[in-house]
Amino acid sequence: MRELFEHGLKDIYWAEKALTKALPKMQKNATSPDLQNAIATHLEETRGHVTIVEAVFESIGKKAKAEKCDAMQGLIEEGDSILKETSPGPVRDAGIIAAAQKVEHYEIATYGTLATYAKTLGEKTALDHLLKILAQEKIVMKHSQS
Ligand SMILES: [Fe+2]
Ligand SMILES: [Fe+2]
Repeated sequence: MRELFEHGLKDIYWAEKALTKALPKMQKNATSPDLQNAIATHLEETRGHVTIVEAVFESIGKKAKAEKCDAMQGLIEEGDSILKETSPGPVRDAGIIAAAQKVEHYEIATYGTLATYAKTLGEKTALDHLLKILAQEKIVMKHSQS
C-alpha cells in the first residue's frame, strides 16, 4: 500500500508539472477571453498543486520525485492534436474544454485514490493536503461544465 501511495504521488507530481507546461499553450490558443481566463486561473492552481504535492512528499519523509505519467502524457497529446485539427474559434474552444475536462477527471480520480491510501496509511498531514487539492479540482470541474 505504501509503495502504491508513493508511486501514485510521483506520477501525479509529474502530471501536475507537465500541465504547468501545457496550459500556457492552451491559453494562448483559446479564442474566448472567458476560456483564456479560466485556463490562466487553472494554471495558477496547478502551480499551487505542484507545491502542495511537494509538501505531501515532505510529510511522509520522502524527497519529491517525478515519474512519467503515461496517462497524462496522452491527455496532453490529445489536447495538442485538437489544436492541430482546428482553427481559432468556438469549435477549437469546445475541443480545449473537452480536453481540460478529461484532465480534471483524471486528477479527481487520482487524488481521490491517493487520499484513500493516505487515510489507510494513517498519514494525516498528507491526507489533509490531498483533500485540499481534491476540493480544488472538483471546483474547476464544476466551472468547466457551466
Ligand atoms: Fe491539479
Ligand atoms: Fe486541475
